[in-house]
Amino acid sequence: MTGVTITGWGTALPEQVVTNEDITTLFDTSDEWIFERSGIRSRRTATGPFVKPPPPVDPPANGLGTTGTLAAEAGRKALEMAGVAPEQVRLVIVCTTTPDQLIPANSASVAAALGIRSGAMDLNAACAGFTYGLVTASGLVAAGAERVLLIGAETLSRATNWNDRTNAFLFGDGAGAVLVEAVPGEGSLLAWDLGVDGNLVPLLYAQHGSGMVMRGQEVFRRAVLATVDSATASLERAKLTIDDIALFVPHQANIRIIEAAASRLKLPPERIASVIQRTGNTSSASIPLALIDAIENGRVHDGDHLLLAGFGAGMTWASAVWRWQDPPGR
Ligand code: ACO
Repeated sequence: MTGVTITGWGTALPEQVVTNEDITTLFDTSDEWIFERSGIRSRRTATGPFVKPPPPVDPPANGLGTTGTLAAEAGRKALEMAGVAPEQVRLVIVCTTTPDQLIPANSASVAAALGIRSGAMDLNAACAGFTYGLVTASGLVAAGAERVLLIGAETLSRATNWNDRTNAFLFGDGAGAVLVEAVPGEGSLLAWDLGVDGNLVPLLYAQHGSGMVMRGQEVFRRAVLATVDSATASLERAKLTIDDIALFVPHQANIRIIEAAASRLKLPPERIASVIQRTGNTSSASIPLALIDAIENGRVHDGDHLLLAGFGAGMTWASAVWRWQDPPGR
């Protein structure tokens, strides 16, 4: 049996910080309202800047101005950390709902930037994307692909309607990457659950060339239910209970959704990973950003059971129970 483990990771964020105060220059709102409703204080944006009056727009000095450049930077760090050369990677999966262009897939330019030629594809399951990607990568590793570079990367700032005060404050840009490698035996992915209800497309969508449209309260309500149901299904399949979970790593959409789901799952606040206060909702990038933040802050230990859970436009949902293994040498 071939299982999987994570041997390297990396993140990338654009330089530009957009605070709630900056957002108040766009429409009638306040830092207090945004923080209370969402838990967000600031987000990073690769495109913009979104403040009035607009200052001259310079290309970002760190070069991280697109989904592709953010993805490549996070992926490069993951490979470097794992000590793996580009030619040893069998596939790059870029999970994104905001690709830089319609054709070709974003993963093609990411693979080129990293010097990878063995295979590349995009995966779009909105904010459930990274967990869908983790399950996909694990399946491919079981089928013989020894190493898959899995990246969640977004520039939601380009899909946001910056005049719509009901949701523009929620979104941010960024990327997180992990290298998924084969290990003998069961490995880290103990159980998973994927789902979609395509009848709910009208709740959250963006047409070509126009900004996101969202029915916020309905998304909120369904997000809590989907997260709890999916997480419960994964726990049952792993034959574990919530008490076995050391850390809950949810999609970072809104702190109130995270807290409502955690409370229904009976998870105390100290077992929740969260970066939303400074990243906003970064869709496919949000779970790897929260996971890597927790790892780097010493909150994840060898043998810990992690519960990943995301939901997003579609509506899609996905969860996974992951038994963390420290990579060799850490
Ligand atoms: N500043 C101040 N007031 C505002 C703002 C704002 N930016 N936006 C709306 N309001 C007002 C409204 O007009 C309304 O006023 P009224 O009561 O006089 O009519 C009041 O505030 C309350 O508005 P609601 O829409 O009821 O606010 P709610 O508590 O639902 O919070 C929010 C809105 C934060 C968007 C919430 O519904 C939410 O988080 N929904 C889920 C969103 C989400 O997670 N989406 C991502 C999905 S993932 C993906 O796939 C991208």
